[in-house]
Amino acid sequence: NYTPTLVTTTVEHAPAATQVSKTAEAPLASLVAAAHSSGVELMLSSAYRSSTDQQTTYNELLARNGAGYVHEYVAAPGASEHQTGLAVDIASVTHGCDIDANACSLDANGIAWLRTHAPTYGFIERYPSGKQSITGVAGEHWHYRYVGVPLAKALTNAHLTLDEFVRQIAPGYAR
Ligand code: DAL
Ligand code: ZN
Repeated sequence: NYTPTLVTTTVEHAPAATQVSKTAEAPLASLVAAAHSSGVELMLSSAYRSSTDQQTTYNELLARNGAGYVHEYVAAPGASEHQTGLAVDIASVTHGCDIDANACSLDANGIAWLRTHAPTYGFIERYPSGKQSITGVAGEHWHYRYVGVPLAKALTNAHLTLDEFVRQIAPGYAR
């Protein structure tokens, strides 16, 4: 039942993705503006999702892609970090993504640009491929989470996920 302090994002987004945590909005807007300056046009396909929204997403993706897909890619309602308002799904700007979030995808330039520059703005690639046994989620090159600049840089440089960091500082906490 957690609800963060939310703001409507100024970042271009697919129809249903409009709110993020107040904490993440300015860094997110800076990230997207910096990408634009580099010729990489980014938008959001999803951002804050309430537990009810996550249930809807879960049901839709289950119907669309099947049980195997949701097991690997979709958190259970109440267990998604989208509910923190700190997680965003980032896509390349396309007309299709403007009108239907299911048509959104992040192209190779976007993937590469974000991997290099997102930590400068406090965001980490939260579910890298190859870390599924640690994070419990298959590789999601589009899903970024705001953790603040110092931690984002440290984790990225050390090739550590947030799960590994939490386990180190609070061994009894992360499962
Ligand atoms: N896709 C991520 C794991 C979520 O549903 O929160
Ligand atoms: Zn996501």
